[in-house]
Amino acid sequence: MKKMGSANKKSILLIVFSFLLMLALVGCANSQAQEEEPMNTGLDPNEWNNFAFKDLFPEHWESYMKNMENEKEVLPKNDPSIEPMLPIVWNGFGFAVEYNLTRGHTYAFEDQMNVRRITENPNAVSACMSCKTTVFPAMLEEFGPERAYALNYHEEAMPWLEEFAGEDKGRMADGFGNVAEWGHASIGCSTCHDPVTMDLRVSLPHTTDAFERLGFDLENATQHDMRSIVCAQCHVEYYFDPLNDLQTTFPWGYGLTFEDQWEYSEYQASREGGFQGEYVSTISNTPILKAQHPEYELWSYGPHQTVSCADCHMPYQRVDGKKKISSHRWGSPMLTLEESCRTCHGDKSPTYLETRVKDIQERHKEQLLRAQEIGASAHYYVNRMIVRQREGLAISDEAIQEVQALVREGQWFWDMPAAENSYGFHNPDGAMASFTRSIDRSQQAILVATRALMAVGEDIDELERQIEITKQNVINESVNHEKHTHAINEWFPNVRDN
Ligand code: HEC
Ligand code: HEC
Ligand code: HEC
Ligand code: HEC
Repeated sequence: MKKMGSANKKSILLIVFSFLLMLALVGCANSQAQEEEPMNTGLDPNEWNNFAFKDLFPEHWESYMKNMENEKEVLPKNDPSIEPMLPIVWNGFGFAVEYNLTRGHTYAFEDQMNVRRITENPNAVSACMSCKTTVFPAMLEEFGPERAYALNYHEEAMPWLEEFAGEDKGRMADGFGNVAEWGHASIGCSTCHDPVTMDLRVSLPHTTDAFERLGFDLENATQHDMRSIVCAQCHVEYYFDPLNDLQTTFPWGYGLTFEDQWEYSEYQASREGGFQGEYVSTISNTPILKAQHPEYELWSYGPHQTVSCADCHMPYQRVDGKKKISSHRWGSPMLTLEESCRTCHGDKSPTYLETRVKDIQERHKEQLLRAQEIGASAHYYVNRMIVRQREGLAISDEAIQEVQALVREGQWFWDMPAAENSYGFHNPDGAMASFTRSIDRSQQAILVATRALMAVGEDIDELERQIEITKQNVINESVNHEKHTHAINEWFPNVRDN
């Protein structure tokens, strides 16, 4: 074979190179122009109505509307096939009455208005709305942070909202299609985008405050950071701080791990008037911290922490043959495995990836149920201690308090990874460490209680039998929101003070 002269080789390379460069430049022209010239939608900087974006971004709108289709059946979470002990471990709190699996962002506001935790709680506050509606920033504007979170949900917040945003419900009827009753104001475009420039933004100021407490100024966030931080506005643990006008607050003062958040929450509880927990258990008279949905935190110390939420949950998808947009249907990445996972894991088969995810989730569910089962028993051991003490037997306050503290800790370390919605995928080790600590603390609680009870002659086998029957009665009740009524009975009365 004749060797090609080196000059010749160079010029061919040069031609190929220039051609590639040209392709690249043509390809980039569009996106560069977009970057240099900030977008101006012409919308009001305070626009909150999702419909206002519909005609400007028809492909995104179409993708967003897919949130109306449920990916899975929205079962109550205390269904025996999911988490049977919830009516016990949450007894005394609304979550024991009704708590459902998630569905699309477009339904978030409507689902909240209709859930029994809200409809049957006359004292619900507007802070509940802070992660459900695009109108919340307007409420902040109207009432200021001192009042906006603490309004009565039914008496103050809803009437104001009806007045401010209810009117626009009419616009749906004429030609806007069905976007759930309050879909025009449910989590939407202005939650994550500046309505004028469409830059990603944080629209909920308590999120900015939380990052500040962590020592991170959002001004310094990169675009890549923002692809997760927009989700951190809601997919996090939070509480309504009584020392700060009930404002939505993330317990991030010491860091993001579940262990850090526990330490910080215990510090808050130790302060005069500080947050003790969402409720006091009717079974164990223990103040309990109810976990919300700490996806951002668990992910932040897991194996995919360098991969953004949007990378997996909002993958680029082709919409009209050639154009690609970020999917705005937030759901399971397992349904978009090619675009969500194989962009990085192209060397692994889809079946391998699916199996890996299932394995992680199965192991997670096993430990979740074990921790929940033992935690539920621990509540009943405290109950028996309190009952015996009230009967005049020699059980000290200190012994009861020691066991209550263990129950509280055990429940936190079960609830955080259980409330996190990925079933451990976001951070298999972090979740497992949490369950291990939960099981350890609940077992410790049972051990300490057993000693105290045996010292006053309690028949522990009989106690165990009663606990088993009670658990079974909860499971067997078919009316979902009645289940919690069986958690309290003649063996285990309500012992809550007040
Ligand atoms: C303003 C608050 C808010 C923001 C911001 C937010 N979410 Fe959500 N998300 C929710 C709520 C509330 C639900 C549950 C809705 C329901 O069940 O009615 C939810 C549900 C989900 C679900 C489950 C959907 C289903 O069909 O079950 C996924 C996945 C999700 N969000 C991912 C994300 C990602 C990724 C981001 C960031 C790009 C994000 N969310 C930003 C509040 C938010
Ligand atoms: C939960 C947060 C969230 C909500 C709600 C949301 N977006 Fe986005 N949007 C994103 C993220 C994240 C990106 C990717 C941005 C990036 O990486 O530059 C994006 C990208 C975009 C882009 C840029 C092009 C693209 O596809 O990447 C447009 C336009 C857009 N969104 C429009 C909308 C519209 C219209 C709505 C309301 C119907 C909406 N978005 C609601 C988070 C959100
Ligand atoms: C590496 C990919 C990946 C990243 C990064 C990621 N997730 Fe996920 N996420 C998943 C997978 C996989 C599941 C499990 C889906 C299933 O079980 O079908 C999941 C589940 C979820 C769910 C529950 C969905 C449902 O149907 O109820 C939510 C909510 C969620 N993720 C939010 C987030 C948020 C917020 C972030 C960023 C802090 C994030 N995810 C980062 C892959 C990812
Ligand atoms: C942006 C790149 C990226 C994306 C997208 C991504 N991953 Fe990963 N994945 C990684 C990195 C990096 C690691 C860590 C590798 C390590 O620790 O050696 C990892 C690790 C894993 C692991 C653990 C390794 C193993 O085989 O046990 C699994 C499982 C996994 N990814 C599954 C997924 C799934 C499922 C998705 C989509 C929902 C996904 N990944 C999306 C980059 C990515």
